[in-house]
Amino acid sequence: MKDYTIAVLGCGNLGSAVTNAILNSSFEPYPAKIICCTNSEKSAENVRAKFDHEIIEVSHGIDSNKAAVAKANIIILGCKPYMYQTVYEQVKDSLNGEQLLISLLAGTTTDELSIFTPYVAKVMTNTPAQYGCGMAAVCFSKEAEAKYSELVMKLIQPIGSAVQIVEKNMDAATALVGSAPAFVLLMLESMIDGGVRMGLPFDVAKESAIKVMEGTAKMVLDSGEHPAVLKSKICTPAGTTIGGLAKLEDAGVRSGIIRAIEESALISASFSKKK
Ligand SMILES: NC(=O)c1ccc[n+]([C@@H]2O[C@H](COP(=O)([O-])OP(=O)(O)OC[C@H]3O[C@@H](n4cnc5c(N)ncnc54)[C@H](OP(=O)(O)O)[C@@H]3O)[C@@H](O)[C@H]2O)c1
Repeated sequence: MKDYTIAVLGCGNLGSAVTNAILNSSFEPYPAKIICCTNSEKSAENVRAKFDHEIIEVSHGIDSNKAAVAKANIIILGCKPYMYQTVYEQVKDSLNGEQLLISLLAGTTTDELSIFTPYVAKVMTNTPAQYGCGMAAVCFSKEAEAKYSELVMKLIQPIGSAVQIVEKNMDAATALVGSAPAFVLLMLESMIDGGVRMGLPFDVAKESAIKVMEGTAKMVLDSGEHPAVLKSKICTPAGTTIGGLAKLEDAGVRSGIIRAIEESALISASFSKKK
C-alpha cells in the first residue's frame, strides 16, 4: 500500500495514543494523511492542539466521518465499544469493501466488526501507548491476516511492543494489557501511601515508588529470570522483605490480583455476549 490515508474514527485517549505513536515513527510505507475524527467540536479542538503535523487533518461530526471514510484506505476505530454500530450506520455508504479496519475496542469481535469490511484487525492496547511504552495484542480476521498483518504490525509497533495472539485470548489480553495499568496504578498509589505513612515526604515517596516499579520491570525484562527467582534474591532470612511479603500473602494480594485479571476478562467476554 502506497500514499495511503488513515481515518481515525474516535480520536480520544487511545485513538490519539496510536496516532501519536505513528507520528513519532518512520516506518515504510508511511501514511500520506491521517484524518482524526471526533464527535464534538471541543474534542476536535483538543486533537488539533495536540497534533501540529502536516499529515494530520482534524474534523468532527457525522458528515466528516463519512467524508473521511470515503478517502480512507485504513480506518482506525477508537470510539467506545457500544458505539460501533452507530458509527457504522454513519459511514456505511462510504465503505468500499476493500478498506482495512483496525479496531481498538474492548470486547467487540472481528466477526461483529466485519460489517465494515472483511479486513479486520483487532488491537488491544493501553494508555501507556501515548508515551511509546504501551503494549498491544493483535488478532486478525482470516482475510486481514493474509493481506495486512505485516502493515498492521508496523503501524502498531511504535506504541511500544506488539504481539499477535489468537482471538480467543483477546478477553485475557483486554484484562492484562488494557485494564492492568489501573491495577498497577493502585499498587503504586498504595506504595506511596505506605511511604508517607512511615514518614517520607510525598514527593520522595512518589519518586521512590515509581523508580522501584520501573526498575523492577526492567530487571525482569533484562535478566529474563522468573519473577519468583528475583524475588527470592531480595529476601534475607528473617529480614525486612520476607516480613513484608508475608503480610502481602496474609492480605491475599496475590490472589486478589489474579482474580482482578480474571474478572476483567470475564467482563470483556460478557460485552460481546450481550449484543
Ligand atoms: N482507555 C483505555 O485505557 C483503554 C484500554 C484498552 C482499550 N480501550 C478501548 O479504546 C476505545 C476508546 O477508549 P478511549 O478511552 O480512547 O475513549 P475516549 O477517550 O472517550 O475516546 C472516544 C472518542 O470517540 C469519539 N466519538 C464518539 N462518537 C463518535 C462518532 N460518532 N464519530 C466519531 N468519533 C466519535 C469521541 O469524541 P467526543 O469526545 O467528541 O465525544 C472521542 O474522541 C474503547 O473502545 C475502549 O474499549 C481503552
